[in-house]
Amino acid sequence: MTKSTSLFLAAVVAVGMMSTTASADIKKGQKTYLKTCKNCHGNGTKGAAMHTQDEWDDLFANNGEKMIKAHANDKSAAYFGGETFKGDAADLRDFLHEYGNDSGNVPSCG
Ligand code: HEC
Repeated sequence: MTKSTSLFLAAVVAVGMMSTTASADIKKGQKTYLKTCKNCHGNGTKGAAMHTQDEWDDLFANNGEKMIKAHANDKSAAYFGGETFKGDAADLRDFLHEYGNDSGNVPSCG
């Protein structure tokens, strides 16, 4: 698959997910966070509070470019550089953005 094809597919998937309810994405993102990030960054409340909502937007811009860079020298680099992160990124962003440290929201369990 060429790079542009996979970008196109990612966009199709992202649009598809936007048409489901927003809370479904956030829940999915929370699950992914707990599975993937919690070991290193603590529970969901702590993880989302690492950044403001605007900062999360920035970190996840350009297919999560800054997230990938931040982990480039970490043992999670394979995850961030691979297909799994591409698939998870939209849900993760929704979860982290929803509970960013200036959001006033706190995840119910995390
Ligand atoms: C194997 C451990 C590990 C995993 C898994 C991991 N991280 Fe990180 N993360 C790090 C390290 C190490 C850094 C770079 C050092 C730092 O800034 O704390 C970092 C940096 C970051 C940063 C930027 C630096 C900062 O303080 O803002 C963010 C945001 C972040 N991680 C979020 C996540 C998210 C979200 C996930 C799950 C998708 C995740 N990390 C998974 C270890 C990990």
